[in-house]
This record gives sequence, C-alpha cells and structure tokens, in this order.
Amino acid sequence: MASESAQWRALRVDVAEPAATDIMRFVLRDPQGAVLPAFEAGAHLRVRTPGGFERKYSLANAPADRQSYEIAVLREGDGRGGSADLVDHLRCGDLLDVSEPRNDFSLAKSAAGYLFIAGGIGITPILSMIRHLASEGEARFKLVYLTRSVAQTAFARVLSEPALAARVTVHHDGGDPDEAFDLWPLLERPGGRHLYCCGPAGLMNAVRDMTGHWPASSVHFEAFADATASRTTDEAFFVQLARSGARLEVPPGVSILEAMRAAGHDCPSSCESGSCGTCRTELLDGEVDHRDFVLAGEERTTHIMICVSRAATGSDLVIDR
Ligand code: FES
Repeated sequence: MASESAQWRALRVDVAEPAATDIMRFVLRDPQGAVLPAFEAGAHLRVRTPGGFERKYSLANAPADRQSYEIAVLREGDGRGGSADLVDHLRCGDLLDVSEPRNDFSLAKSAAGYLFIAGGIGITPILSMIRHLASEGEARFKLVYLTRSVAQTAFARVLSEPALAARVTVHHDGGDPDEAFDLWPLLERPGGRHLYCCGPAGLMNAVRDMTGHWPASSVHFEAFADATASRTTDEAFFVQLARSGARLEVPPGVSILEAMRAAGHDCPSSCESGSCGTCRTELLDGEVDHRDFVLAGEERTTHIMICVSRAATGSDLVIDR
C-alpha cells in the first residue's frame, strides 16, 4: 500500500495461543521492554509475516496499554497465504516486524451512545473500542457479536467479564440464514449514537443497507482485504481522468487507484479497502460496480471509491481526477 509507508520495528511474541477455531491470539512486546508508540482504539498494524507477506491487523487491546500490542489472526486456508503463515509458524519468542499503529476507524470522542456490530474476526478493533470505553467509565455502549458457533467465538472469556458482559450480546447462527440475528430493532432509531461495524462483507452490506436513514458521519465500517478483494470474474476496463485527459487501462486484480499511481497520478488514500472515504471521487460518466462501505443511496450515482470499486461489465468510466 504505497500511501502507508511503514517504519518497521521488531517486536517479540510473548503470547501465541488459540483464541477460537482457526484463530490465534498474539501479544507482542518490545524485546527490551520499551514503551510502544501510542495508538487509538480502532487502529491497526501492518506486519511482515515469517514468509515475507505484508498484512494488516487491528489491535484488540486498550490504548492505555503502552507495553504491548494484541492482535488476533484468522487462518484463511483459501486466502493469499499471509494469515496461514502467521498461524502456522509464529511462536512465542519469535520476532515479528510491525509498523507504527495507524487508524482508519476512529472512535468518536462524544456521542449519545455507541452501537458496535462485529462479525467473526471483525471483533478485534471493536474489542479495543469497548475496552477503552469501559476503562473511561463510559457505559452507553452495546456490542452485538455475531459468530457461527461457540467454538468460532474469539475473546469469549474477555467479553464475559463483569465490566463488559452486561453490554454484550453474542449470537451464533450455526451458518443458517434463518437463524440470523435481527439487527433492525437496534438500527431503527439512530438516537444520536455512532455505529461501528466490522466483519464479513455480507454483514457490512446488510448494516449499510439498514442505516441509510442514519447521518452518514455517524456510521463507520472497517473492511478486511478479503471483503473487497478482486474477483475471478473481473474484467479490464478503461478509466478517463477528466482533468488531465489521460486514459488508463485497469486490468483485473488492479484497482483504479493502483492504475493511476502506476501512471504517475497521485491521489489521497488511506484504508484502501473501501471503508474510510478518503479516495471518494466524483463520477462523471459510466456505470460502477460499487464495492465500498461508504457510499449509499444517491451518492452511488455521482461518486466512486477508486480504491476498490470498478466499472460495471461493459462500461468504461470518466472520473474527476
Ligand atoms: S482509501 Fe479508504 S475508501 Fe478508498
């Protein structure tokens, strides 16, 4: 991710233990016991796996903890190899290269309340947020944590501790859509709250569709790379940059943003997973296959998030860049 040039430092793995089926929890500390760079709830690290993959993981511990970084990694057997490399090979005592923390999923400093919706491994940034709120004495929050089963529920023990348990609902659907948790009663009335959602694309799309009546600035998503990853059905298309007149080909597996960079056209970006809103670009012509979690309703006819979205099949695009 070119916009996120990392300053690497090696941290020692002090804890490496299963947190749920296919999920490992790692606690990282400085080998000399030094205080670590501060972070805010919702932040993530980039890590270099033993096999040389570079990946992004949310911090799960509370920001007040300056001695450690806690991450949890879901082993994705059909992923690109980074998560399996960490889960299979990273052990206590190993050194792991990590970047400074960075935050694309910031917690609002003040709100009438906070609603958190986490699916699967999406609990990690949200756990940091609720740990932070609880440590500040903030009681106006609720977490709904959706998983398939008890065995696939990470951090179950932490969430059942007295400081959190009364504000946490854990629901297992067994993989059966008929057993899905009904979120609508929680989402019907925004009531000045801020909503934070992290999990699989299907969950985040459903939450986005149910929150069209919320103020856009109070709804926040954090996407994993797999939620917006390229698809085998993707086709090449052309994008025209209206300001310079440049016409660029965007091949499968390459985003518009990456194609622009490769051609020397800079553009602000941050998350590069369709959730922060930084790369919002005006759409002047063409039909879009929207893959972000930012744009909703009418905005989808006038704008595009160029870090993840592509041209709809058979279309080319003209954008205001
Ligand atoms: S860079 Fe965050 S939405 Fe595109």
